[in-house]
Amino acid sequence: MTIRYARNDNPLRSGDCFAALAMTIRYVRNAEWTNIACTKARVFLLWLALWLLAACRAAPTPTPTPTLPPELALGKRVFEAHCAACHSLAPEVNLVGPSLAGIAVRAAMRVDGLDARGYLYTSILRPGAYLVEGYPDLMPSTLGKTLSGEEIDAVVAFLLAQP
Ligand code: HEC
Repeated sequence: MTIRYARNDNPLRSGDCFAALAMTIRYVRNAEWTNIACTKARVFLLWLALWLLAACRAAPTPTPTPTLPPELALGKRVFEAHCAACHSLAPEVNLVGPSLAGIAVRAAMRVDGLDARGYLYTSILRPGAYLVEGYPDLMPSTLGKTLSGEEIDAVVAFLLAQP
């Protein structure tokens, strides 16, 4: 009975009041949330912008990946495909043939009258013409036919560029 009475007591006004209160709360809440969200978003965006600015400024200029000029790149490929099985480019690593580390300097002193370039061409085209002491005549004598002129030029340039 009591409950029923209370329920029925001015049902309209009671309902309106609650509805208004709920609406107000919702409104205020929504308004607050919106504002806070907006402010937060603004602060976040500002922070992000500043962070990006700082990051961009602090970011070191990317070091360019060293790339070989086309001729040396070709020479490297030729070397890897046709020479590396017998020659290392690491100092004192002697495989079937001697290490070719520092060959540019040595090549210039091997044969009287031949500069480094001339010696390298001769080594490739007529390997038996000069034998490095302690090594057998095992270098293929067909490289002049297997490789194109461009490939030989490139591998010679590549070897001359070795430290
Ligand atoms: C089957 C093994 C073999 C291959 C492949 C080979 N060589 Fe040789 N190479 C030798 C041997 C062994 C010697 C040492 C004997 C001589 O002087 O010919 C030698 C010597 C050399 C020398 C003289 C080194 C010096 O210290 O004077 C050069 C330069 C050379 N080779 C370059 C090349 C190049 C460039 C290629 C690839 C295009 C190549 N070789 C492929 C075995 C090889």
